[in-house]
Amino acid sequence: MPSSELHKFYKKGLGERLQIVKEFAGLGEEEIGKLKKYGAMDFETADRMSENVIGTQQLPLGIATNFLINGKDCLIPMAVEEPSIIAAASKIAGLVRKTGGFKAEADNPVMIGQIQLLKVKSFEKAKKAILGKKKQLLEKANAFDPVLVKFGGGAKDIQVREVKSKRGKMLVAHLLVDARDAMGANAVNGMVEAIAQDMAKIASGEQRVFIISNLAIHRKARARLVLKAEDIEGSFHGTCNFVKGNEMVERILDVYALAEADQFRATTHNKGIMNAIDAVAVATGQDWRALESGAHSFAAFKKGYGPLTKYSKDKQGNLVGEIEIPLAVGLVGGAVKTSPVAQAAIKILGVKSAQELAMAMACAGLAENLGSLREIAIRGIRHGHMELHAKNIAIAAGAQGKDIDKVAERIIREGKITVDGAKETLERMHK
Ligand code: MEV
Repeated sequence: MPSSELHKFYKKGLGERLQIVKEFAGLGEEEIGKLKKYGAMDFETADRMSENVIGTQQLPLGIATNFLINGKDCLIPMAVEEPSIIAAASKIAGLVRKTGGFKAEADNPVMIGQIQLLKVKSFEKAKKAILGKKKQLLEKANAFDPVLVKFGGGAKDIQVREVKSKRGKMLVAHLLVDARDAMGANAVNGMVEAIAQDMAKIASGEQRVFIISNLAIHRKARARLVLKAEDIEGSFHGTCNFVKGNEMVERILDVYALAEADQFRATTHNKGIMNAIDAVAVATGQDWRALESGAHSFAAFKKGYGPLTKYSKDKQGNLVGEIEIPLAVGLVGGAVKTSPVAQAAIKILGVKSAQELAMAMACAGLAENLGSLREIAIRGIRHGHMELHAKNIAIAAGAQGKDIDKVAERIIREGKITVDGAKETLERMHK
């Protein structure tokens, strides 16, 4: 297996980058052809995927390098327009390699389908009646998707809750469905629809809502990293003094403490995590809205809203980072199958199951988050963002061709990363 540790990948030309990824992932000429065309989706495909289509909106597809996950080298494709996301995730992944890489795991892919029953006279009696007929209800639900059952998935259990609302008490049943390698919305929605009426009869109630819940608490992925203090020390291009490892760990823990204590910071902290997770989701054709709603809801589940990652210092003074997050992702169905780029992205990632995809996403989210915290701990994020943004600024100032890189390098070196700074630099270069 080739290594995902790729030094200065960003400095290579497009052809060389593609060649490296092609060899790493065993991509064929057809897949490379699609990527080379920047994944251009033909109009017919786009029209089939959505409604009232008039074009396509594209995003750059980049590769986060250096990931080692459960001992396996991994290149992580990300479709996103913010350059620092891929840079930060790759940087941290490179450091984590030194201590053996990320350890990750994922729950079985179990989703929840909700059925709301109204006008139930006795909750306890209705609950008993539903659970008494569990076997029949599960059989009927499973008849909706025999293929899923054949692959070891399907409806596995029913749980019953009482929910107090402004319109009175209601019974809410949760159908637990193992979606295997699908995200699960179609199977779950079909199954709850198939049994809602029967359940209402059994409980002597009236069904109203029957739909998937995007709070996928049974389908979480977890990842963990350990970093030696000396591996994260450093200074940032002379904008601050050198920060030693132990000091860096303390600073990162200070930054994290605010996210733990304060919802305003926790929201931004989690945005950083979702920067990477959404980018992988878009690259691989996932329903990123479902992931977003599930992640933020989980961040507040049974407690006040808080960070989705945890940081601590172990006895040796190492920094330990952990993430736990619900990730309802799939390798079959939806855009995964219809988008040619999503298929290539999944091949590059080399994942064989939805659980493996969830693990890679969790690692990407954790890496990205630590990258942000490290920057914030030292000098704030603006400098790093602006450095990566320098080329765009050079173009905005009128630089063309080879001048773009030259102007970008100079304005970074001189600390003048503004359009005016770039214009002045360009003029000086041409004098
Ligand atoms: C920017 O897209 C994301 C960050 O703001 C996340 C964070 O503050 O932790 C850098």
